[in-house]
Order: sequence, then C-alpha cells, then structure tokens
Amino acid sequence: MKEPASGAKRGPFITFEGLDGSGKSTQLRLLAARLREHGHKVLETREPGGTPLGEEIRRLALEEREEAPAPRAELGLMFAARADHCARRIEPARAQGIWVLCDRFTDASEAYQGAGRGLGGELVRQLHRVLCPESWPDLTFFLDVEIATCLERSRQRLRREASREGRFESETEEFFRKVRDGYLEIQKREPARFRIIAAEGEVYDVAGKIWNELEAWRNAEAKQ
Ligand SMILES: Nc1ncnc2c1ncn2[C@@H]1O[C@H](COP(=O)(O)OP(=O)(O)OP(=O)(O)O)[C@@H](O)[C@H]1O
Ligand SMILES: [Mg+2]
Repeated sequence: MKEPASGAKRGPFITFEGLDGSGKSTQLRLLAARLREHGHKVLETREPGGTPLGEEIRRLALEEREEAPAPRAELGLMFAARADHCARRIEPARAQGIWVLCDRFTDASEAYQGAGRGLGGELVRQLHRVLCPESWPDLTFFLDVEIATCLERSRQRLRREASREGRFESETEEFFRKVRDGYLEIQKREPARFRIIAAEGEVYDVAGKIWNELEAWRNAEAKQ
C-alpha cells in the first residue's frame, strides 16, 4: 500500500450493526455506492472476514457443526479475525483517506457473545483494547427491525443461497432478545456514535435515513 499523503485526513470508519437479516449488507452496499458517486474512495468489508485469514475464520465460526464452540472460543475466533482485519485492511485504508464501511464489528461481539452468550460486555471491550487498540468506529448504524422479521428474512435468504453460515439463525427468539438488549446498552453508553435507525420500511427509505444521519454527523464534525 502507498504511504499516506502527509497531512491527509484519516478516512472515516463506519460500521453497520443489527440482528441477522436486519438489512446491514443491503444498506452498506447502497451507502458505499452513494459515497462513490460523491467522489469518495470506499472500502466495503465485513466481519468476521475481510482478509484471507478472517474469511477462513468466518467459515469456522459460522458454519453449523455437531458441537457448538464454547462461548469463549467463539469470542476468541472473532477477535483473531478482527485483529488481522484492523491491522491489514482497516487502518491502512483509513491512513490513505479511504472511507471504511464494515458489516459488523466489535459491537456485534458485545451483543452476541457478551450479551447473547452471557460473557459480559467488559470482557469484549478488554479484548478490543488489547488486540485492536487503534480501531474505533466513528459512526455506527444499528438497523432496528423486529426479531420475527429478521428471522424470517434471514431464513428465506439461507434457503435461497443454500448458505452454510446458519449457526446463529438456529438460535431462539430469547437469544436474539438478549442480543438486541446488548446493542441497546451500547447505545446508552455511546449515543453520539451509535445511531439507531428504524429499519422496517422500504430499502430506499432506510437508505435515506442513513444518509441524513451521516450528513448530520459530517456537519457536526466539520464544526469541531
Ligand atoms: N428494508 C427491507 N425490506 C424488505 N426486505 C429487505 C430490506 N432490507 C433487506 N431486505 C432483504 O432481507 C434479506 C436480508 O438482508 P441483508 O442480507 O441486507 O441483511 P443482513 O443484516 O446483512 O443479514 P445477515 O446478518 O444475515 O448478513 C435480503 O434478502 C434482503 O434483500
Ligand atoms: Mg449480511
């Protein structure tokens, strides 16, 4: 990768969060396209994944198996992928002024492994501080959709794509309730960064809300 131009502004780091099937990947693609129309360079990436090692870990972590990984093992896999992703992709891109849009990040570990699996948020934040000390999202869009809608959408998608990434889809409603509560805790702690987007509506209406929030954030940043 090229050296950053001296004095260049670091690219913004924006993450998308929400339950499975809430529309993260759809909205990330739309936002990336719109930013490119405005002349920005954009890296679209995802977690777990984003690097060759991360994608291998994704397969290990998400495919259904006879014995589910122990919760701490699952969390360890997520952070092994994340540490590689931050060092090899996210920070080098930001250093060149490239916008980074990431489908899930540490908030997902806090919600799924911290709240959903009961490991607690503090353990997740500690691992982040140790393993990914430079990478903190500037802005996060949490796509808020009814649990039942999410489950239906992602089950349909799994059937259509014959995907093997079905481990979380087989979880109970109770599990997703805990995950959602975990996300809402993050919002209470960091309301400026963590924006809840009501995302039940049409794809393009949701995209419009995200764009408006982004503009408001950029205006606030410009004043600082
Ligand atoms: N606003 C919407 N209204 C109706 N359907 C939608 C909407 N947004 C996305 N979908 C559809 O719901 C399904 C899940 O969307 P998408 O893959 O973007 O969600 P996701 O949050 O990335 O899911 P996952 O966590 O499983 O990766 C897709 O089939 C998509 O076309
Ligand atoms: Mg997705």
